[in-house]
Amino acid sequence: MSETVLVTGSTGFIGSRVVEALVRHEVPVRVLLRPESAASGRSPAGVEVCRAAYGDPEAVGRAVEGVGRIIHLAGVTRAIDEAGFMAGNVAPVENLLRAVRERNPGLERFLLVSSLAAAGPALSATPGVRERDRPSPVSAYGRSKLLGEEAAMRFAKEVPVTIVRPPAVYGPGDRDILEVFRMMRRGVLVSAGSGGRQRFSMVHVDDLVEGMLAALRSDAAVGQAYFITSPFPYGWDEVVEAARPELGFGRLLRIGLPTPLVFGLGTLLGAASGLTGKPALINRDKANELTQDFWTCSPEKAARDLGFTARTPLGEGVASTLRWYKEKGWL
Ligand SMILES: NC(=O)c1ccc[n+]([C@@H]2O[C@H](COP(=O)([O-])OP(=O)(O)OC[C@H]3O[C@@H](n4cnc5c(N)ncnc54)[C@H](OP(=O)(O)O)[C@@H]3O)[C@@H](O)[C@H]2O)c1
Repeated sequence: MSETVLVTGSTGFIGSRVVEALVRHEVPVRVLLRPESAASGRSPAGVEVCRAAYGDPEAVGRAVEGVGRIIHLAGVTRAIDEAGFMAGNVAPVENLLRAVRERNPGLERFLLVSSLAAAGPALSATPGVRERDRPSPVSAYGRSKLLGEEAAMRFAKEVPVTIVRPPAVYGPGDRDILEVFRMMRRGVLVSAGSGGRQRFSMVHVDDLVEGMLAALRSDAAVGQAYFITSPFPYGWDEVVEAARPELGFGRLLRIGLPTPLVFGLGTLLGAASGLTGKPALINRDKANELTQDFWTCSPEKAARDLGFTARTPLGEGVASTLRWYKEKGWL
């Protein structure tokens, strides 16, 4: 069986790190680039490039043919409406798996990168959501990721499928949590809802990649889903203290936006996005995510089945990420 791993979403934050790790481990890599990714599509030397639109069965067939495993990372985290999320997070899963069934029936593993958003928030900070809990996503993004999971599991009798659900991922290359660090550098931290009570799971991108590669190869992981997460739920205080040494801020102005205000802003900006045709930074849907108290999940199943433990302490991971941002001139 081929050692080659096909990676989708390879031009993104997590995907580029996955490709780097595979290349470092001397695993042959093929990447699927969409026509839209052509301009930005840079791949390390030695990586085979296959161009395909997800809606083109012949091209997707060529992309999946002959590989041993697939890591499907491509997806949409921002969209104007539900249809945009479905198009980015459900249809490509179905199209890839249909192509696998026809052109690569011996595939050893299809690893789908879903999200904690598919499971929804937890009722309490610990133990956080577990894989066996009934999913209850609170956003269009989360619903589309859950539908993507369900689509993948419909093929599970014919294709060995494994799902990983990361919580918030941080590390070199991330542009989302970067915005929080930019605020902090200016001496401000704005959070939504009851900021003091909020707890969230996070994972450093390199720990996530390690967990994903463990799931990709583990026999126990066939047909299973895993949260790949740090063992601890964090609060804003811990993130602030982790960032303080590198960012060097003294006093920090903490602003907690009341929930109704967050929803008000979401409604306004969401309506504006409908007019401009660009995804809003925040809309009502995003407000629903931002105001939850506990975005936490349990690392237990991944530890038990995959022997995975996130190694990077928050302080170390945040400091090295901030140094990377500074080197690249992002901060
Ligand atoms: N970052 C996080 O905190 C986080 C947390 C949980 C789960 N996830 C999941 O992890 C995956 C990767 O996230 P990321 O943070 O690396 O995102 P990212 O930087 O936005 O990368 C996603 C990649 O998906 C592809 N893509 C973009 N629009 C698409 C569309 N309409 N249809 C199909 N593919 C499209 C692009 O790759 P190409 O141009 O190469 O095709 C893009 O580089 C996503 O599935 C996301 O849902 C991320």
